[in-house]
Amino acid sequence: MNQHNEISTLQYMGSKARIISHICKPIIKNEHIKTVVDLFAGTGSVGYALKPYKNVISNDIEYYAYIINQAILNGCAFAISDEVSFWIAVDQQYAFLQTKVSSALFAEKEFLIDNIDYKQYQVFCENTPSVFSPKSDDSRMREISDLVSQVTPGKAPALDFPCLFLTYFANAYFGIAQCCQIDAIRSVIEQIDDKQTKNILLTVLMSAISANASTTTHFAQFLKVKSKATCNNLISKRIPFGNMISITYIFNSPCPVNIDTVYNPQSVIHLIRQTLQHPF
Ligand SMILES: C[S@@+](CC[C@H](N)C(=O)[O-])C[C@H]1O[C@@H](n2cnc3c(N)ncnc32)[C@H](O)[C@@H]1O
Repeated sequence: MNQHNEISTLQYMGSKARIISHICKPIIKNEHIKTVVDLFAGTGSVGYALKPYKNVISNDIEYYAYIINQAILNGCAFAISDEVSFWIAVDQQYAFLQTKVSSALFAEKEFLIDNIDYKQYQVFCENTPSVFSPKSDDSRMREISDLVSQVTPGKAPALDFPCLFLTYFANAYFGIAQCCQIDAIRSVIEQIDDKQTKNILLTVLMSAISANASTTTHFAQFLKVKSKATCNNLISKRIPFGNMISITYIFNSPCPVNIDTVYNPQSVIHLIRQTLQHPF
């Protein structure tokens, strides 16, 4: 059994998650080493594994890496009552966003539930507008087209509700309902004042997005429907719901847990429910 805390926050080709024992064993054994500086910390796997044994200082040039490392190294106390109100706000925002793209969502639901001819889903996906390719002659996409027309990359959107994923990545890296969920969750996280809690929630969201994206292992390109098999694979990644997410997180688990082992692959963003009673 691996004796090191393993964490896999993002699917990342350069992650050291798989060789963590080899890196950490000699460092842990050396009692003269009290503090470790994890330069180029990336997804945080090295610092997280060393945390129980050493002081860890983490650095990375990327802001997302700062958020992740800050979150997993410091933890937070997120009360159950906070979690409940968080989910109420997310549910409201998600319900609202669904009304904005109801035709496309209705069609998507049929595809995700029924055993359909893959070519129909292929056409549906290829005709989904985005800021990168705004044109669509599919009438079910009118609402998304309307949103896309009001978003210019690099500029603040003219809309007063969140729709970044909906207008950039619908039926590309994520299904349409998944985009609504991600936009809803991201916007509610933005309203949280406490910086540490915010970083934890952002990390949870990034992890979930990374684990559920329509990609193979990284974000170089998204999967496309080319056959019955690729269609089934995509659909399995895009089945959204159940209990949207339970925020609770592994970071605060009393025992080490590998995120990969607790994701429900059928769920858009499914994190195991654990009370955040054990700040780490
Ligand atoms: C291969 S990754 C590190 C992987 C990490 N150990 C893990 O397990 O996820 C390299 C990291 O170096 C960071 N990086 C590259 N140039 C940098 C610089 N000049 N200063 C700080 N970080 C840098 C990148 O942002 C990237 O996250």
